[in-house]
Amino acid sequence: MNRLKNDRYLRALLRQPIDITPIWMMRQAGRYLPEYKVKLIEAGNFIALCKNIELASEVTLQPLQRYELDAAILFSDILIISEAMGMELSFEANIGPRFSIPITSLNDINKLSIPDPELELGYITDIIRKVRYELNNTIPLIGFSGSPWTLATYMIEGTSSKFFSKIKRMMYCESKILHLLLNKLADSIILYLNAQIKAGIQSVIIFDTCGGVLSKRDYIEFSLYYMHKIIDNIIKKNEGCYVPITLFTKGGGQWLELMAATGCNALGIDWMTDIADARRRVGNKVALQGNMDPSILYASPERIELEVAYILKNFGIGEGHIFSLGHGVYQDISYNHVKVCVNAVHRLSTNYHLK
Ligand code: CP3
Repeated sequence: MNRLKNDRYLRALLRQPIDITPIWMMRQAGRYLPEYKVKLIEAGNFIALCKNIELASEVTLQPLQRYELDAAILFSDILIISEAMGMELSFEANIGPRFSIPITSLNDINKLSIPDPELELGYITDIIRKVRYELNNTIPLIGFSGSPWTLATYMIEGTSSKFFSKIKRMMYCESKILHLLLNKLADSIILYLNAQIKAGIQSVIIFDTCGGVLSKRDYIEFSLYYMHKIIDNIIKKNEGCYVPITLFTKGGGQWLELMAATGCNALGIDWMTDIADARRRVGNKVALQGNMDPSILYASPERIELEVAYILKNFGIGEGHIFSLGHGVYQDISYNHVKVCVNAVHRLSTNYHLK
């Protein structure tokens, strides 16, 4: 068993007693950090950075040198697995991800492979092993995957989408074909997350960024069902410790009870969901990660501290809260404001814990 110097992130996920509220942020490594931009240029582009074992490991660790974060998150992207399945992917500045040939037919789905992670995604497991070595059991390392629905959205739409018309057309006109794709993605994700865990990942997050665009019935059939399947099939314990699982559906506030029933340990919640309500609804089953609006980081240090104080109070006394953002850090915020937020969470949360 590996004893972590700071295990409050993992303990909070399991709703165990801790001293202060842990904090990490999605995109804590990214373009708002000048040292990240240097490494991005050195690598050439975003995908090259994700595949460069040295540089991706360095970038994973960069925010930890500036801030007292309670967890590191693997530097990668959810769409890397789709590339390994056979799709050509690029990231264009100010546009975002793009698949050159989006999926349109059963034939396209049949051509996709289920990657062997140690072979086709071996750079990921190498980065994980390197980062774990560098972290030297100080704080845990988070791994992640996109949900099948969210990955399918990008693979069918080709890029970020506003109306989701292509995938919804397939959902309503050819649902069997879409289910074949979602199944193939779920099988790939199970192998991928298990490989991440075997390489040293200590907690996983499933990002369902696009789940919130569905009706309740479609959410259950096309997104939640597959997240359930993934949770049922991933390794729950490694190195003698539980590997807690977090589910995050952006815009999923109305389905927290359904999400909590999947067997996950925690739910990520966005800022449209009130964290006190969320706790009343599911807090005896799962921990909650969230839920500050990332835009608050544009505001003054005083305003950021006010918001931190409000969210901590709103969750209230007791265990099972991980402070986080309702989405990723924006690239044009001031990096000093991240420090204000991290320090405020630690300083202002002492009275909310029983330990
Ligand atoms: O959180 C972390 O620090 C780990 C790294 C991480 C990235 N992407 C790096 C990244 C994680 C966890 C992700 C997840 C991801 N990627 C999601 C799910 C969470 C979410 O954001 O909703 C999604 C939908 C993607 C797909 C994606 N990747 C988009 C839509 C974009 C463009 C938007 C943007 O911010 O530029 C990306 C690019 C991306 N992924 C960047 C980073 C640091 C910026 C690329 C750059 O450096 O130029």
